[in-house]
Amino acid sequence: MKRRDFIKTTLAAAALSVLPQVSTAANGGQMKILVLTGSPRKNGNSNILADNFIKGVTEAGHEVVRFDSAFKEVHPCIGCNSCGMNGPCVFKDDFEFVRQHIVDADMVVFATPMYYFGISAQLKAVIDRFYAINGQIHRPKKAALLMTYADNSAEKESILVNHYNFLIKYLGWENVGQIIAPGVWPAGAVNHTDYPLKAYELGKSLKLA
Ligand SMILES: Cc1cc2nc3c(=O)[nH]c(=O)nc-3n(C[C@H](O)[C@H](O)[C@H](O)COP(=O)(O)O)c2cc1C
Repeated sequence: MKRRDFIKTTLAAAALSVLPQVSTAANGGQMKILVLTGSPRKNGNSNILADNFIKGVTEAGHEVVRFDSAFKEVHPCIGCNSCGMNGPCVFKDDFEFVRQHIVDADMVVFATPMYYFGISAQLKAVIDRFYAINGQIHRPKKAALLMTYADNSAEKESILVNHYNFLIKYLGWENVGQIIAPGVWPAGAVNHTDYPLKAYELGKSLKLA
């Protein structure tokens, strides 16, 4: 598919989409938040940020669901286009959970380690599967990025941050926070920094509008 066709298909799919978006205003100020994590280390640094973020949003009264990509079965997209960017996928796997929650979510959070300057493959596989629901998720949502990495380089982290920024811009989502924790390599190293507290405070601070 040419780039122009890709954009056209996307817009057409979005126009066809009729699933109702949960109105946050009608929901008493409570948001539905989907947290997508990407680390295979259960007690790893990005999961610690996710835990703290979830603690904050829960205390703030929001509804959170979490999908730990590395512990789920999500087949990578094979580009068969059977979904037409807005339909059933040929793979019936754990992505169904994401499909079920992301359309109505008011906010989507990406929690990932840096793997070779990018998002982990486990989380990227989930993002690529957005293709089948592309038409349904081009709607205003909030988004945040929680990212950990071993190095400490503004230039290197900008690669992953730019990816996130372009992704949410393409989807029409609004960034409401980025917690980027450099210099953390062993699982749990982030506990010796103030980034878990920052993730908690970001979650706790979230409000509608
Ligand atoms: C496969 C792999 C690739 C990695 N690539 C990078 C990298 O490009 N730059 C970096 O600074 N750290 C890299 N790291 C280190 C991790 O980003 C770092 O340990 C991070 O805190 C891991 O997060 P986690 O504990 O949530 O898994 C890599 C680690 C692994 C296992």
